[in-house]
This record gives sequence, structure tokens and C-alpha cells, in this order.
Amino acid sequence: MTEKHFIPTPYTNSLENGSFSWSSPSNIALVKYWGKKEHQIPKNPSISFTLDNCKTTTNLTFLRKASHGGFSFEVFLDGEQKDDFKPKIETFFKRVEDYLPFLKDYHFKIETSNTFPHSSGIASSASGMSALALCLMSIEKLIIESDVTLSAAERSIDETYFTKKASFLARLGSGSACRSLEGDLVVWGKHDGIEGSSDLFGVKYPNDVHQNFKNFQDTILLVDKGEKQVSSTVGHNLMYGHPFAQERFKQADKNLSDMISILKEGDLDAFIALVESEALTLHAMMMTSMPYFILMKPNTLEIINKIWDYRKSSGSKICFTLDAGANVHVLYPEGEASQVLEFIQNELVAFCQKGQYINDKIGFGAKLL
Ligand code: DP6
Repeated sequence: MTEKHFIPTPYTNSLENGSFSWSSPSNIALVKYWGKKEHQIPKNPSISFTLDNCKTTTNLTFLRKASHGGFSFEVFLDGEQKDDFKPKIETFFKRVEDYLPFLKDYHFKIETSNTFPHSSGIASSASGMSALALCLMSIEKLIIESDVTLSAAERSIDETYFTKKASFLARLGSGSACRSLEGDLVVWGKHDGIEGSSDLFGVKYPNDVHQNFKNFQDTILLVDKGEKQVSSTVGHNLMYGHPFAQERFKQADKNLSDMISILKEGDLDAFIALVESEALTLHAMMMTSMPYFILMKPNTLEIINKIWDYRKSSGSKICFTLDAGANVHVLYPEGEASQVLEFIQNELVAFCQKGQYINDKIGFGAKLL
């Protein structure tokens, strides 16, 4: 399958106005995407848990324009106009224009809100871009389905195509966003052991998953809620000419191969080792970029050490992972929830900014509202 698959046949129908709302979750990568080629193609495959509570809700209103001056839009977060979101959305719209030719004929009002605080350091690009991509797909679906000049077969857009194309579009907004549409595990990037996997979009993980990984919990400890000094986009670019890049891409591919058997066997110890190593490798790539940078904070390390001590003394199957920031995702099986939450309360909350954390768990993807 190539990009061409997502270019629609020219529309013979148009709509005056309307609106759609989607809610879409965030996700946390177990094998990380870090490094990309042109057009948001990842250098290595990645796999993530879809989250449940951390999500973005977006309402997209579209209004047909009288003139043909190209698309225009305004964007609101929690009811307030947010012009600083505009450049990223403008880039996204430009990247997806060829795949959604209706864009140029409309003015859009994008109204968005997150269940997590915007300044929490939790990336809203995955949930935000996937929610927006889904709203755009809903518009395209309506344009095609309401076209009376088409045959019944030509008018129907099946769910699989809808989700694939929405994920494909979301990827063009933010790479990791293409893993937020479905749950509970999603793979993005071609991998020989995963049928249907593609560099172009995320797919629901199709292989066997042991009961041990069902309903896994993720408590996100908010260590630093400030703006990141280095954006993910800049970080990805620093993988060009990075001395360890090629080895890292190979390692990620191998880690995903290993993850396939770990998920099948339910091997929690191997899961812990792989997930923590991925998190630290991601940050090692940052620290060995040129220019180098560090996104972890002293409290990130305090928490990691506490988790290691707790695991050693209790035999718990708790582990941590990190995204491109200082916050710590604490992952643990559902059966340990009450003990781990007690441990978090007693020992980890002290290292969180204003004592803040978010209890989340594996979720099942985006929803049309
Ligand atoms: C560390 O998807 O935010 O979270 O494609 O430039 O928008 P862009 O980057 P982004 O990068 C996410 C990186 C990561 C790892 C991951 O989610 O796989």
C-alpha cells in the first residue's frame, strides 16, 4: 500500500456546513519512535499502549467559503482562542491537503479540550492530532456518502479504510498520533513479525497477548510541567548524523521482535527489562545528540531509583517508562493496583510537582461523540 491509496477520486458533491466531535486518547510507547525520514516516516517501528483517561476532545465545525482562497481556520482551547497552536495545524493542513481535497473550500473552527492539564507536560499532540484527523475523515465520509451521483458501492467507506486513513493523516500531524486511534496495543512502522504493519499508519497489534498484559495500569507522575526546552521534532532531527543512530534503529527493530514473544508468553520480567531499557535508551539518544540535551530532572531519577528499590524489596512487577520529558509513567499489572498506589502515595508523590499525578490504564481508542 502506498500514499496514493489515500487520495480520493475527485468529489462531485459538497456540503455547506456541519460539525463533528471526536475524543481521542494519548498513548505511551513501549518501543520508542525516535528518528524519522521525510514525510513523517519512522526510522524504526514502535509499539504503544493506548491510554484511557488522558484524552483530547475536538469539535470541528466546517463552513463552505464563498471564495476559493484555500483553507482557513481558527482554534480554541477550553473556549479560548489559541493562536500559538496555529503553526502546527497549518503545517498539518498543508501536509494533508492532497489527501483531503475538500479542505481548500472551507473555513474551520477547531474547539478542543484535554482531560489532562495543558501545561502538565503530557504530550497533547498524539491525542490532539488524532482527534482532528478523525473529524476531518468524518467530513470526507459524509461528502462521499451523501453524493447521490455515486453508486451504493462507491458511496460506502468501510470502517477499516476510515481508521487507516485517519491514522495516516494523524501521522502527518504528529508521528505518535497515528498510534492513538485504536487500542489496546498499536504498532506503527513496518516489522516482519507483525502482519499488516506499515510505515504509513498505525495498526492494532494483531498477535497474541497474554492475560498478564490486559488492563495494565499507568500512573503518570507529573515531575515537571514546564515547556520542554527541546521539542520532539527537533529531537527527531538530531538523529540525523547521530553517532549511534543506526545501531539504535536496529535495536528498536530487535526489541519489537522480542516484545512479540514477551507479549505472547506473558513474561513480565522480560517486559520490565525491555521497557525500561527503551526509556533510558531514548534519553541516552538525547544526551548523545549534538547539541546534547537532558529532559530528565533530578526527581525523574529519584523516582526511578525508588521504583527499583520497591521492586527489589517487594517482588512487584512495576516498571517505568518515559516519553520526551521529565514525567514518569509507572506501569503495573491490574492485580497490583492497590499496593502500587499505596507505594506511589507514600514514596513517589513527594517528587511530583505540586504532588500531582494521573491514574490511567490501557484504553481502547478514539470515539465519535
Ligand atoms: C518520545 O510523535 O511527538 O514520545 O512526529 O515530530 O510530532 P513528531 O514527534 P512525536 O514524537 C514522539 C516521541 C516519543 C516516543 C514515541 O511516542 O514513540
